Amino acid sequence: MSGNITFTIIKPFAVSNGYIGPILNKIHQGGFRISAMRMLWLTRGEAERFYEVHEERPFYKDLVEFMTSGPIVVAILKKENAVEDYRKLIGATDPEKAEEGTIRKEFAESMRANAVHGSDSDDNAKIEGSFFFSGLQQF
Ligand code: CMP
Repeated sequence: MSGNITFTIIKPFAVSNGYIGPILNKIHQGGFRISAMRMLWLTRGEAERFYEVHEERPFYKDLVEFMTSGPIVVAILKKENAVEDYRKLIGATDPEKAEEGTIRKEFAESMRANAVHGSDSDDNAKIEGSFFFSGLQQF
């Protein structure tokens, strides 16, 4: 059975380009409810910890660099089948492969500056959500 939460980040480039509103609008139109949300600027240590699973990947250093380059918006989203439906809504990691109408197709610039993050499993949605929010901060 699929869970009903996913976790998202609106990444630095999308924030600095003024896309918070348009991306939240897509999230709302996609039928998601915002359970928790805040804006913050990650420290290097926090970004390294959040992306720890990618530590051995060639793009890890670059990813941490980018994710600490400016403020981000983090949120927990609720909807039935949230992880899978949100991944459909955001589109492929590489915006050139993302389908028309998806968030990444409309707002991403590159694989690195790909506008948003979305959890890839129910387990990771819980882990990622609780990295940023305590139980008391989720509604
Ligand atoms: P995200 O969903 O945040 O999860 C890991 C991130 O690594 C991914 O989005 C991309 O922004 C980034 N990423 C994945 N593959 C590559 C790659 N080949 N080159 C650069 N960045 C990548």
